Amino acid sequence: MSTDEQPDTSATALGRYFCCHLPSSPTAQSSKRCATLPPPPPAAASSHRANHASAGARRPVSTTTTMACADARPPAWALALAALGLLASARAAARLALWVYAVFLRPAKPLRRRYGAWAVVTGATDGIGRALAFRLAASGLDVVLVGRDPDKLAAVAADIKAKAKQRRPDAEVRTFAVDFTADDAAARVVALGEFLRGLDVGVLVNNVGASYPYARYFHEVDEELARRLIRLNVEAVTRVTHAVLPGMVERRRGAIVNMGSGASAVMPSDPLYTVYVATKAYVDQFSRCLYVEYKSKGIDVQCQIEWRRAPSYLWFQQGT
Ligand SMILES: NC(=O)c1ccc[n+]([C@@H]2O[C@H](COP(=O)([O-])OP(=O)(O)OC[C@H]3O[C@@H](n4cnc5c(N)ncnc54)[C@H](OP(=O)(O)O)[C@@H]3O)[C@@H](O)[C@H]2O)c1
Repeated sequence: MSTDEQPDTSATALGRYFCCHLPSSPTAQSSKRCATLPPPPPAAASSHRANHASAGARRPVSTTTTMACADARPPAWALALAALGLLASARAAARLALWVYAVFLRPAKPLRRRYGAWAVVTGATDGIGRALAFRLAASGLDVVLVGRDPDKLAAVAADIKAKAKQRRPDAEVRTFAVDFTADDAAARVVALGEFLRGLDVGVLVNNVGASYPYARYFHEVDEELARRLIRLNVEAVTRVTHAVLPGMVERRRGAIVNMGSGASAVMPSDPLYTVYVATKAYVDQFSRCLYVEYKSKGIDVQCQIEWRRAPSYLWFQQGT
């Protein structure tokens, strides 16, 4: 076989590609020369191609190979890889833009019109639940506050009503007392379902929940704490959702917001808070599955990822 008929093996093509496109290659400078030098005479060119082919097959980098680089193309796999990278970057950029829009720019949904007239908030007497109850009332919803302490419930209800009535004189706030850790909690939640029957409940916020008072090893978690965490973080969200959902399904609209935790959804593990994190992982999966189950019925389900706000029982312990 003559040198002109030397097959353009993939190793040869690679050699050409690298010799022309890698800036750190010693031949990168000579490839510039490749563009400026006049074309070699036919005989020289033929021997150059022979050199290039054989040099490319054995060792891709050679100063004598650069003359043939002017017409080199990147191999197909490199183009495919670049296209994949471009697609992945475009997807990440689009997701970031959507997130920025949803978090900072998107106007608030008209909750009353979109989901219904009433919001139900569990654990509404303090912390995040209390703040959410104020916001929901301010956005035009009537609110049912659920908590364990009737006096606190009455006080928060009065505050919310006073504020909401400044905007909407007919604003309504109702309260329902249930201790989700008590043995009669299941029966009380059934009673809550009855209490809500006939109300156009559009938004349910399953906020009630608790963590450890302080970090501890799993074998140090006593029966009472474990039961409290499971009843508050797992049973309450499950039972209350079960009580409220049928009405939403009937009306074919509603939104359920469950309080998860960054400790289970973001961190790979959160040692010394094992039971708490495991119960919040339940909330996360519970929300994901419900979202898929009820999307076609007009019901939105989301899990909010809370992160490091000192809960009220810690404020109390610190005496602040
Ligand atoms: N704080 C954070 O940084 C953080 C992080 C991740 C997730 N979360 C989650 O976000 C949610 C709210 O947290 P938070 O910090 O706002 O909590 P919080 O300040 O401790 O408030 C908890 C609320 O639940 C009520 N509650 C407690 N035990 C109850 C029971 N047995 N029966 C009925 N109601 C009961 C409390 O009522 P009382 O007023 O009577 O005590 C209070 O209204 C929880 O699900 C929590 O796990 C919070």
